Amino acid sequence: MWLNRDVISVLDFSKEELLDLFNKAKQIESIRENSFSNLKGKVLATAFFEPSTRTRLSFQAAMLRLGGTTLDLGEPTVSSLAKGENISDTVRMLDYYSDVIVIRHKLEGVSRYAAEICEHPVINAGEGTKEHPTQTMIDLYEVWKTFKSLENLTYAIVGDIKHARTISSLILSFSIFKPKKVYLISPLELRAKEKIKSFMESNGILYEELTTLSEVLEEADVFYITRIQKERFSDPYEYEKVKGSYVITLEHTKKMKEGAIILHPLPRVDELSPKVDSTKNAAYFSQARGGLYLRMALLRAILTGD
Ligand code: NCD
Repeated sequence: MWLNRDVISVLDFSKEELLDLFNKAKQIESIRENSFSNLKGKVLATAFFEPSTRTRLSFQAAMLRLGGTTLDLGEPTVSSLAKGENISDTVRMLDYYSDVIVIRHKLEGVSRYAAEICEHPVINAGEGTKEHPTQTMIDLYEVWKTFKSLENLTYAIVGDIKHARTISSLILSFSIFKPKKVYLISPLELRAKEKIKSFMESNGILYEELTTLSEVLEEADVFYITRIQKERFSDPYEYEKVKGSYVITLEHTKKMKEGAIILHPLPRVDELSPKVDSTKNAAYFSQARGGLYLRMALLRAILTGD
């Protein structure tokens, strides 16, 4: 079921497969030991054409903790891309040198294309404004651990709905695990793209677009906060208009219902006050930590089938 799978979109996986993955991750997490030898002799290559901290490092850490090794393409300026080599030749080389390739790129379709030309599995580590399947798996993993189920929850998704790929990727997953309701809270300029809205409509996902957070504070089970994606704006003036639109503070958490959690894929800029970190609603560091175990489970599954 898992061996040699590419990970390009969360939609490539069934409910049963995702629940199986979460169980595998939980098992690794519960061992409370971070040294395994399942992937001894295996090599993971990372090729990131956009900045990253957590995704790149947690994939590398996951591989190292499973006994494997890693190599990194590095900045485009230090590889042959700077000499004009095309991405397909670069990716082919990574395929010869490694057993699994993790790619992040600003263009949609690059990881699917890489998967077509590579013999080894390719993992999409964030692409354009639509897909970030492993981040979604991590988000769902945290929700699943908290609520013991992924169905019938109310989500309040806050921030740059238009550009944040973690949001559209999460929305895609709502066709697999049906929420009760999804509130999309953003400035008017940053509302969901039409194709995402029609996806929700055709999949029977109940949603409502709002510009303020106050009316859902007492209703949502999961608050999913993202930064305004500055790098996606072609006009800096447009960014200035919407930056700082939402800031989650301690006051907000006081109105949240018992057991509600706050997720954030990180990095945060100014949308989530550090004062929230010590509240019982703050689940974003646990979410980031769980990312290591989820990626360990995923790498082990696609490289060994276990
Ligand atoms: C996100 C991304 O790259 O889409 N980061 C991540 O992988 N956790 C979120 C972001 O950059 O805002």
